[in-house]
Amino acid sequence: MSRTRTPILAHVVYRTRRFEQMLAWYQQVFHARVRHQNPAMAFLTYDDEHHRLAFIDLAVVQPGAQDSEKHGLVGVEHIAYTCASLEDMFDSYTRLKSHGILPYWCIHHGLTISMYYADPDGNQLEFQVDCFESAAESNAYICGPSFSVNPVGVEFDPEDWLAQVRAGASLSGFLVRRVHEPVSPIRGALSAV
Ligand SMILES: [Fe+2]
Repeated sequence: MSRTRTPILAHVVYRTRRFEQMLAWYQQVFHARVRHQNPAMAFLTYDDEHHRLAFIDLAVVQPGAQDSEKHGLVGVEHIAYTCASLEDMFDSYTRLKSHGILPYWCIHHGLTISMYYADPDGNQLEFQVDCFESAAESNAYICGPSFSVNPVGVEFDPEDWLAQVRAGASLSGFLVRRVHEPVSPIRGALSAV
């Protein structure tokens, strides 16, 4: 039996062309509040988690796209699950890789380190590890300048990190992001449009 712990549900991200209406609806229904908002994205929460809901405004990200209500574009972008540790995440990465299952996007969000996978139907999942130990630190980060400068994140190569670990580095040394650029494009369904 695997010693890695099962990831727990953390947040859902939606792609929408009704950005303001969606924000208002989810704030009303969940008593949610906005943690961070920029012209393209908004991050909401209703408890101590840094975000429970996020929204991508397709009118900004895909302004010229045809077929604007096409299923698979408007709707759920991804569902995120939190891993207990970076070691657990990388153990799962290695196990899944041995079964031919690879992430399509590995990204250091600053707030979390995340690997995104697509299931056989193309539904997108994020496995994440929090970079900060406390909710207070996470919430300070999402409201702070580093997140405003790069709310998407910086891509990383898990094989490069594993090679550094084999050479003596500690996985936990990657938790604090020291390089904040380049800003990655959002990969997955959006990059296939
Ligand atoms: Fe996410």
